[in-house]
Amino acid sequence: MSAVLVHSISDLRGRLEPFRRDGRIIGLVPTMGALHAGHGRLIERAREECGTVVVSVFVNPIQFNQALDFERYPRTLEADLKFCSDRGVDFVFAPPESEMYPCPQLAFVEVEKVTEHLCGAKRPGHFRGVTTVVTKLFNIVQPHRAYFGEKDAQQLATIQRMVADLNMPIEIVPVPTVREPDGLALSSRNTHLNEEERRVAPALYRSLQAARELIASGILDPGEVRRGALELLAKYPQIQVEYFEIVDAGTMQPVERITGPVRVAVAAWLGSTRLIDNIWCEYGRKD
Ligand code: PAF
Repeated sequence: MSAVLVHSISDLRGRLEPFRRDGRIIGLVPTMGALHAGHGRLIERAREECGTVVVSVFVNPIQFNQALDFERYPRTLEADLKFCSDRGVDFVFAPPESEMYPCPQLAFVEVEKVTEHLCGAKRPGHFRGVTTVVTKLFNIVQPHRAYFGEKDAQQLATIQRMVADLNMPIEIVPVPTVREPDGLALSSRNTHLNEEERRVAPALYRSLQAARELIASGILDPGEVRRGALELLAKYPQIQVEYFEIVDAGTMQPVERITGPVRVAVAAWLGSTRLIDNIWCEYGRKD
């Protein structure tokens, strides 16, 4: 069956109402489109766990801090609709910008601290844009569950904290990162890589694995772990590292010593494309 494409908020609310009244669990997968197997995993999980599945497709202007990045973000609605239909999605909500932002937005949702480092430090305003649009989507769809990828670990931690702090009655379901066979994390931005950049890009994941090996073997000084991993990346002049950090897995604050589970996170530029990736690590564990 084809997923039903809906553009307006009132139409979507009206269509969801009977399902809600029937007591169906409503699952939301928020996306910016250009759907790939990583999104596919989120959708499959939502399909398994929810009676009604909504996928939102909206390239949210207020989370981009560079106009060029916003403009060149891939927009592939027709293919996205087919992708969702093939996976049994009930509704694809693809509002135009005028529906989401009919007048200049004056109310924003902000999560402090969790957004301070990593991408938050490098992309001012980005997480405020994310938490604001996700709150709007939550208010529009009123899902019981919402699905987010671990690839965007800081985004996931920020949304988990927002939902907890603001008592939003929504279960946030984290879904593991999907990778190409060579380890590159799936991302809509991978389509921007040229052949040479695509060839070296998996080094990012290898640097994270190297960090995990070091931590598992008992190196608990983040500086030492970082140096080891950066040595590996230094072999690739095509990769410009923006950050390589070891942070507390919940608060996303850099740690002074690795005493519990951490996330090792990297952001790097390959030409004009910015990629991010991360891995969960714990002393003594290699899996
Ligand atoms: O991860 C994304 O694709 C976006 O940041 C999200 C959560 C859909 C908000 O625009």
